[in-house]
Amino acid sequence: KSDSTYDYIVVGGGTSGLVVANRLSEQKNTTVLVIEAGGSVYNNPNVTDTLGYGKAFGTDIDWAYETTDQEYAGGSSQIVRAGKALGGTSTINGLVYLRAQAAQIDAWEAIGNKGWSWKTLLPYFKKGEQLQDPAKYPVLDGSGISFDPAYHGFTGPLKVGWPSTQLNDGLAQKLNATYQNLDVPVQFNRDPNSGDMVGYSLYPKTLDYELNIREDAARAYYYPYQNRTNLHVWLNTHANKITWKDGHEATADGVEVTLSNGKTTVVKASREVILAAGALKSPVLLELSGVGNPDILSKYGIATKVNLPTVGENLQDQMNNGLQFESKKSHADGKSSDYVSYPSAVQLFPNSTALGADLLRKLPSYAAQVASANGNVTKASDIYRFFKIQWDLIFKDGIPVAEILLSPYGNVYSSEYWGSVPFSRGSIHLSSADPTAAAIIDPKYFMLDFDFEAQVQAARFIREVFNTEPLGDMAGAETTPGLSTVPADADDEAWADFIKGKYRSNFHPITTAAMLPKEIGGVVDTSLKVYGTSNVRVVDASIMPFQVCGHLQSTVYAVAERAADIIKGRL
Ligand code: FDA
Repeated sequence: KSDSTYDYIVVGGGTSGLVVANRLSEQKNTTVLVIEAGGSVYNNPNVTDTLGYGKAFGTDIDWAYETTDQEYAGGSSQIVRAGKALGGTSTINGLVYLRAQAAQIDAWEAIGNKGWSWKTLLPYFKKGEQLQDPAKYPVLDGSGISFDPAYHGFTGPLKVGWPSTQLNDGLAQKLNATYQNLDVPVQFNRDPNSGDMVGYSLYPKTLDYELNIREDAARAYYYPYQNRTNLHVWLNTHANKITWKDGHEATADGVEVTLSNGKTTVVKASREVILAAGALKSPVLLELSGVGNPDILSKYGIATKVNLPTVGENLQDQMNNGLQFESKKSHADGKSSDYVSYPSAVQLFPNSTALGADLLRKLPSYAAQVASANGNVTKASDIYRFFKIQWDLIFKDGIPVAEILLSPYGNVYSSEYWGSVPFSRGSIHLSSADPTAAAIIDPKYFMLDFDFEAQVQAARFIREVFNTEPLGDMAGAETTPGLSTVPADADDEAWADFIKGKYRSNFHPITTAAMLPKEIGGVVDTSLKVYGTSNVRVVDASIMPFQVCGHLQSTVYAVAERAADIIKGRL
């Protein structure tokens, strides 16, 4: 193996990596190697079980990255999960297939990424997708499912749809009636994947309806194509760093890897090295390869190949909390449904206008706080621009400010939720020149008070929903946190212990190798090429310049589909 040369080496056989490897190897004269630290999970029931969310957590296919102690959020560290397997995080995630509000992707272009907008990404959402039409599955009749075919693909590799275990007991319709009865009603949204997410919906999942198993990136983009002789995958192989051609220019010529037998070797790439190791690994691989902030690299004895100080900055995630209520009725075993609502600022906040004005005044100081936390590597004036765009998205474009899930099981209604667009930004950097050492991950959860306010207000919103008929009549007492822990009329302060003590990472880390103009802190350009290099790209969640209101995977798949066309020279 050690003396082979490939045209392209893809580092990370996860959600994005397998898309790019598949599309590049469609070209018969092109050789592609995928390097994946994990193994195959084709027959792993913790992966395949569509009702098994969480079973893989803490097992050997979970990287379980740990953050630093979070000083603005009760002082404890958090575990940020990510899949270590062929298929990456798509093998352990919650299967949710939800995209973004169109205006959020348009903001990518507005900040300077020409060619990246909802209009240009929608064809790639569709290209990857194979929506299994629920009309073909009578068992789903009455479940309340709907979609608009104009926004979906039906022939792509990735199967998306609704499971046969979907409840069809009338709850969907009762929830709809409940949302209509709120003081500020939330309307039914027939298809939240249409670019307009606001409203109440039933969403599709990445699953194979016929087989009733999870659809992950490996099942969609690798296994059906594994006989291609120009597509190789090395499993249980850890990428350590990029190797460079001699000379001034930063041109990658390979990747140093540690093979499954423990041997370290270099595998050569004649065209490009493509990083797809995830938002919590790709920036670290760049640093290990000498691309980053010289002050950080020199601490660990790594020579700077490309001076690019914003590698690993701008780390954004969301915070997840959950409320629970008793259900008067017992829900059938082996059935599961999830209902989502996406309130806009006007629907979530009783005083949206005043709150918006107050937040606008605070943005300069928010930006200064983020900049000073990272030693002004990201400039306050640039952060301010990002924040102003985010403010416009919230208060002018009316994007969702929270995601509220409702899942009934047994005698419980569980309602997980999160503010969709926190402002806090942290960082990730290496802690050692040892490629297996844990990185220093600091998302700075709850650093900025708007993020906390949104998280509190979403909890109040959920309480209102459960106090509104007909759901109010179907639900019993609130068991988490419960009115004795957080009283009905609790002010923000009274919510703090619960929210900061019980939150978890929402597992949606992004922006650690941001696609942005270089002068405002970008790590990759609009062709996803790392600034200062001639042939290194990043194609995973690291490049997303702003958070999206859906979950990440659909956007990760679409970005990777578009990346493949860029690499092939089609765009
Ligand atoms: P991804 O993690 O998929 O791929 C990275 C790959 O690189 C992995 O296979 C990894 O093993 C490999 N790798 C890393 N370092 C390496 C090295 N040094 N050498 C070799 N290989 C290396 N989204 C959604 O849309 N719906 C949902 O329901 C959920 N739910 C959810 C739950 C949980 C628990 C998590 C953790 C995440 C989600 N998400 C989600 C998020 C979503 O799944 C995620 O953002 C994408 O799958 C990320 O895709 P990437 O390609 O960026 O990385």
